[in-house]
Amino acid sequence: MNRAAVKASTAQGEGRTADAIISLLLEERDAVGRLRSLSSSQPLDATHIEIDGRRYVNFSSNNYLGLSRHPRVIAAAEAATRQFGFGSGAAGLLGGYTRVHESAARTIARWKGTEDAVLLPSGYQANLAAVQTLAAMAREKGGRPVRFIVDKLVHASLLDAVRGSGLPMRVFPHNHLAKLSRLLRKSDAMDVVVTESIFSMDGDAPDLAGLVKLKARRPFTLLLDEAHGSGVYGENGAGYASEMGMADAVDVSVVTLSKALGGVGGAICGSRVFCGGVVNYGRAFIYSTSLPAAAAAAAAAAIDVLRDEPERRNRLRVMAKKTRAELTAAGVRMPAGDSPILCCVIGSEAEALAAAAALRGAGLLVAAVRPPTVAPGSSRLRACLCSEHTQEEVQRLIDAIKAIRPTGRRRHLVGHAQRNPSSG
Ligand SMILES: Cc1ncc(COP(=O)(O)O)c(C=O)c1O
Repeated sequence: MNRAAVKASTAQGEGRTADAIISLLLEERDAVGRLRSLSSSQPLDATHIEIDGRRYVNFSSNNYLGLSRHPRVIAAAEAATRQFGFGSGAAGLLGGYTRVHESAARTIARWKGTEDAVLLPSGYQANLAAVQTLAAMAREKGGRPVRFIVDKLVHASLLDAVRGSGLPMRVFPHNHLAKLSRLLRKSDAMDVVVTESIFSMDGDAPDLAGLVKLKARRPFTLLLDEAHGSGVYGENGAGYASEMGMADAVDVSVVTLSKALGGVGGAICGSRVFCGGVVNYGRAFIYSTSLPAAAAAAAAAAIDVLRDEPERRNRLRVMAKKTRAELTAAGVRMPAGDSPILCCVIGSEAEALAAAAALRGAGLLVAAVRPPTVAPGSSRLRACLCSEHTQEEVQRLIDAIKAIRPTGRRRHLVGHAQRNPSSG
């Protein structure tokens, strides 16, 4: 049933309960192959997972360096849990921010090269609180007009945050600096440019050098989400901006502790003043129980591992480069770079689902990403590499992707296919 039919039936008084309406919406999604559902999974180690009794090589995880299972990370989480209990019991401002949180925040700030950092329960909330803090510049008494200018393909958390701020927002086409420059020219507001270091659904990077040049000509505040760059790029894994030697040009850097760091949580890294702003204006920080001390301790331990075991990220990047080269040579098109996110745009939902099912048949778990996460017609396979995958496993992935034969008009990999801006 389509939306119009749902409206018609509810208008006639049928099924006015929320469940009745939502069930119709779900049917509608199911009919177009977009229904999402959970199935319980059992990770077996860093790179293998069991779902519904079947074992797969896991190419669907953001645990890029296998740190979620690292003995030092686990030991740090266990020690903090024994000392502080599991839940932190209160929001950060009400006693939930222990000395373990403070110390981990200092470790993260040192690692990122910023004056300070604030920890939040998730990366999603970190983006939300960062934007809320920036929005306070316009909201609070004596503030100035603020305008957010966001790359079209930024993560849903950033879109939700900016939209939720209620402040003016402009979108520039993915990595299109000329368009961004034109937008910046027409402004008398404080402009905040929002982008990612490694785009989550495409695995490509922005032209950071170009952005920094533009920033010198037309000043703006740069908010960079380093969810997928952290741990993989830069000195001691400090991120893509560090790798490019441009960390100083980033005003606010958001790190998720949930991906290469192998844990859970998020951190906002910036000046001492900005972090003070987060604690006062970041509602996603203020009104939420702080992350468990165990997660803070685990993140600090993971950063130590990044420093002590650079071979993990070196291995990952060599593997990512080789895999991309082999797939590209076989005619599979994908955005350039060496990130561990391999994005193969296929087209329709049905074809992406069929491709993911074929890979599952070969014992490989690869996500099929569909609308509303990405724009209609750009459904894709998203395979994530981990430093702990064996060569043989990666070769199986390459061979299985190469073996996916077009049915109908399926195209392999159109780089930079569009994220669906209306739904993130
Ligand atoms: C680019 C980006 N930013 C933020 C997040 C949110 O991070 P978390 O999963 O830690 O809430 C994600 C996670 O999916 C992401 O891919």
